[in-house]
Amino acid sequence: MPWNRRNLIAIEELSRAEIDQVHTTAAAFKKILQRSVKKVPALRGKTIVNLFLEPSTRTRMAFEMAAKRLSADVISFDSASSSTTKGETLRDTAQNIQALKADMIVLRHSAAGSPLYLSRLLNIPVINAGDGAHEHPTQALLDTFTMTEHLGSLKGRKVVILGDILFSRVARSNIWALTKLEADVTLVGPSTLVPHWFTDLGVKVSHDLKSALADAEVVMLLRIQHERQASSHFPSLGEYTSMFGLNKTRASWLNPKAIIMHPGPINRGVEIDSDLADSDRSVILEQVSNGIAVRMAALYLCAGAHPEPVLPPA
Ligand code: CP
Repeated sequence: MPWNRRNLIAIEELSRAEIDQVHTTAAAFKKILQRSVKKVPALRGKTIVNLFLEPSTRTRMAFEMAAKRLSADVISFDSASSSTTKGETLRDTAQNIQALKADMIVLRHSAAGSPLYLSRLLNIPVINAGDGAHEHPTQALLDTFTMTEHLGSLKGRKVVILGDILFSRVARSNIWALTKLEADVTLVGPSTLVPHWFTDLGVKVSHDLKSALADAEVVMLLRIQHERQASSHFPSLGEYTSMFGLNKTRASWLNPKAIIMHPGPINRGVEIDSDLADSDRSVILEQVSNGIAVRMAALYLCAGAHPEPVLPPA
């Protein structure tokens, strides 16, 4: 099924076939990244602007790396030294970037809906790199890509997402992706951060860590997103860790082959023990590496709406 989207705004709007197409394209690009020459000319002559108006390490660098591997020119927008500090609006900033003949914008913004807003305003593709607590589509695509590499089909696979679900765009995008891929998803954490209404999205909700982790094949940890919480949702970080932090004992409740995931940034000693984050069961750095191939796929597909990657021979 050909990819017909100019923009990548949310997993919610993607079909199962489109998710599979991103994964297939990413797998082809991952092979390129294993060669001695890790570059293809797919986006030569295109200019991609990384418009990151909220802090990022992994997503910003992976998009920049992905664009360079596709031979695009990349401009990474530094909000601290830009005219946004003089009051320029997102609309004006984006329209100026388009007037400067950029071919694509990758946007991270604290306001949910801002990538959709720009996609309706501009004539060039917009890719959502995380908008408030709404969605982080490329994160979920790389997370499900990584799970598939380890587990094969995700149909019926027991996936637990543990932590601050309420304020997490990563959780929302993964819920959409995993349910489309027919995984068996359980959200776990304190009731203030994992409200029961999430069951409307086709997932289970639990506040009982031991029963939720029992025989899970994937546990994805999320940090507490203080930057989006106007008030405290639990008494203290220490109490959160004692109730819901993943430690060695709790990890023993998982399926023996279970993988441990985290989108980053990690708060070691809070949502996960440092030893577990660095253990053989952790695929956290694999997620980061896969972020390049998956973002290459997203840029490539949105830039040209190509059905299949046109790759040079090995
Ligand atoms: N996972 C993720 O979005 O990390 P960054 O905020 O560092 O991009």
